[in-house]
Amino acid sequence: MRIKAAVLWESGKPHPFTKSQPLRIEEIELDPPGRGELLIQIKAVGLCHSDLLAINGERAKPTPMVIGHEGAGVVAEIGAGVDGFEVGDHVVPVYVSSCGRCEMCRQGRPALCQPATKANMAGTMMDGSTRLHKNGNRIFHHSGVAAFAEFAVISQNGLVKIDPGVAFEQAALFGCAVITGVGAVVNTANIRLGQSVAIIGLGGVGFSALLAAIAAGAGRVIAVDINDDKLQLALQLGAHEAFNVKNENDDCVECVRTATSGGVHIAIETAGVPQALDLAYKVTRRGGATVAVGMPGPDASISLSHLSLAGEERTLKGSYMGSCVPSRDIPRYIGLFQDGKLPIDRLTSRQIALDDLNEGFDRLADGSTMRQVLVL
Ligand code: APR
Ligand code: ZN
Ligand code: ZN
Repeated sequence: MRIKAAVLWESGKPHPFTKSQPLRIEEIELDPPGRGELLIQIKAVGLCHSDLLAINGERAKPTPMVIGHEGAGVVAEIGAGVDGFEVGDHVVPVYVSSCGRCEMCRQGRPALCQPATKANMAGTMMDGSTRLHKNGNRIFHHSGVAAFAEFAVISQNGLVKIDPGVAFEQAALFGCAVITGVGAVVNTANIRLGQSVAIIGLGGVGFSALLAAIAAGAGRVIAVDINDDKLQLALQLGAHEAFNVKNENDDCVECVRTATSGGVHIAIETAGVPQALDLAYKVTRRGGATVAVGMPGPDASISLSHLSLAGEERTLKGSYMGSCVPSRDIPRYIGLFQDGKLPIDRLTSRQIALDDLNEGFDRLADGSTMRQVLVL
């Protein structure tokens, strides 16, 4: 079938994107769903920092590619061998499908599925091919999702059925920002009642982590960012204190350590820059855990005190896709949202159309906005 999609023809075009137009809205071909795959009519897609890194080339992807990976939609057609889905079901895709058979899947860690990671690096479906084409040339899929499009073909192992009562604009966030941020707090850090938490970087992922920390009964919750508007919202949502790293009058490390009598039990880095992870490590208390969630380019690194890691029994952990099991976690988090305990509707700032995507990514690059959602 022919579909309208946003195609990234080349990574690394300069900002402002309204001028360089890295995303072209055009008609391309989409094959029918293969074995174990479904055709999804996409209804809403969040704009995520990982899409921005594909556009600006910091974490380059194979091109041409249809990007977008934080979506929600409706099952339109079912391929052979699909189990548990019906036409009309509302679904959220996740950005790592899973094979169910590799060592990581067998350990109950599908976010680290090895064949799915390989397919994501190659920009293909799990079988190494693509369903997207133009004039006989293949177009790659972003994380097996390729959601900035009217329709997408997605593996059944990368889809979670959701309650149709949830609006698509909100459901979309659960496929990336929410599972990544909430999962980092409840799965990776395994928060305990009363522990203090710092969130460094308040994008969609960081705000989801902040809401999770509050819902899970954290003690003091500290928000850190470089944008005062986001810090204001964090306070409104229940953070106890908020610090701006750019405020020259404050030594942020000292501020957090003072506010929490020696540092937080859990520091979650959700900015995707090494300075933020460095800060997260420094504000973690003795015996505490620092969790790296952000995904910078491949050359980013930090150095840390070997002595503090050993002598203070610190933990430094990575968290990918919130260490989640999507079919277990997404319905749970949606239930919390419906009960008012995870108000992720507070994180979306504006709805945009396909033709406005380049402008939307300019706003994301400026850090001047909350989560924007493409509505189809
Ligand atoms: N210290 C604190 N906050 C920072 C810093 C810094 N040095 N630099 C940037 N930030 C803040 C930005 O102001 C912004 O509020 O980090 C936030 C990042 O938000 P988004 O760009 O909306 O990113 P998001 O989509 O939430 O993703 C965050 O998680 O999954 C990964 O690849 C993703 O690395 C990205 C990260
Ligand atoms: Zn994302
Ligand atoms: Zn696997």
